[in-house]
Amino acid sequence: MADMTLPLFPVTYEIHSAYQPDARIVLYPGLVEDYLKTVPSGSVRLIVTSPPYNLGKSYESRTSIERYLETQSAIIEGLIDLLADDGSICWQVGNYVQDGEVFPLDIYYYGLFKQHGLSLRNRVIWHFGHGLHASKRFSGRYETLLWFTKSKQYIFNLDEVRVPSKYPGKLHYKGDKRGQPSGNPKGKNPSDIWEVVAEDWESCLWDIPNVKSNHPEKTEHPCQFPVELVERCVLALTQEDDWVFDPFAGVGSSLIAGLRHNRRVMGCEKEPQYLETAVHRIGDHFNGTLKTRPLGRPVHQPTGREKVTQTPQEWLQHEKDDEA
Ligand SMILES: C[S@@+](CC[C@H](N)C(=O)[O-])C[C@H]1O[C@@H](n2cnc3c(N)ncnc32)[C@H](O)[C@@H]1O
Repeated sequence: MADMTLPLFPVTYEIHSAYQPDARIVLYPGLVEDYLKTVPSGSVRLIVTSPPYNLGKSYESRTSIERYLETQSAIIEGLIDLLADDGSICWQVGNYVQDGEVFPLDIYYYGLFKQHGLSLRNRVIWHFGHGLHASKRFSGRYETLLWFTKSKQYIFNLDEVRVPSKYPGKLHYKGDKRGQPSGNPKGKNPSDIWEVVAEDWESCLWDIPNVKSNHPEKTEHPCQFPVELVERCVLALTQEDDWVFDPFAGVGSSLIAGLRHNRRVMGCEKEPQYLETAVHRIGDHFNGTLKTRPLGRPVHQPTGREKVTQTPQEWLQHEKDDEA
C-alpha cells in the first residue's frame, strides 16, 4: 500500500504505510512482527488491541495453545520495548475453546506480561448480553481487558471517563460534610465492569434478527471492537498527541478511537480487505460520515412493551396445562 494524501474538505490527512516520527496516522500493511523493528523504543503511550484468539477465524490458522502463546510471547516482547516508561497496554481477550474445553486466554496472557515485568492495574470485564447460546455449559457473556502498566508512574485521567452517578443527590450523613453532596459533580468512576454497547447490540437484535449486520459500526470483520470501548482507554490512559498503537488493527477501530480524541495512531493489519475497510472508515471519520455509538450514551433498557420481551402465548398455554 502506497502512502496516500486524501484531501477532504475541510480536513487533509495522510495515512502513512510505514512509521515516520512526524506522522499522525500509520497503517502498516503486513505482519506486526516486521513493523515492530521500525518503531523507536519507548515511543508509544498506549498499546490497545484484541489479538487473534487461535479459534481458526478466517484470518488465522489454528494451532496448539502452546505454539500460539509462543508466537504471541515474541510479539509481546517487541511491543513492550516500544512502550514509554509511563505507558499502558490494554489486551482484550476471550476464550480459546478446544473439544468443548474452555481456556480463558487472560489467564495465560497474565503470566506472559508478568514475565516481562509489567503490573496489572485492572482486569476489566466487558459484559454483553448477546452471543452464541451454549448447550453443554453456561452461555459466555463476557470477555476481559487486561490493563497493564510498564511502571508505577502512569497516566490515569479518571475525570475524562467518569460516568453519570446513579444517585447524584446522595449526601454525607455525618461528620464535617454532613448534608453536603457526597459524590463527585463530574460523575462516578466507571468501575471495572463495562457494559459498553452491550445493550445497543441487543436492541438491534430486537429490531431485526441479525445483530451483527445491523449495528451502526459493523463491517465485514468477524471480531470487531466497539470504538467506544477503546475510547475509554484512550481518554483515561493517554494525552493529546500521544501515540496509540493497535498491533492487530483489523478494520481500524482503535485508530478511529484515537483520532476522535486527537491522538496519533498506528496499526498493523495483514489482511488487505480489512486494511481497505480501515482506510475507508478513517476517511468517513474525517468527513463526518462514520457511524459510531456515542461515548457514554446511556445503556438501553427494555420498556416491556417490545414484543420480544413478552412471554410467547404457547409458553403461557403450557404453564396453564401444567397447573391443570
Ligand atoms: C481480533 S482481530 C482484531 C479486530 C480489531 N480489534 C477491529 O476492531 O477490527 C485480529 C486481527 O489481527 C490480524 N492479524 C493477525 N495476526 C497478525 C499479525 N501477525 N500481524 C498483523 N495483523 C495480524 C487479523 O487479520 C485480524 O484482523
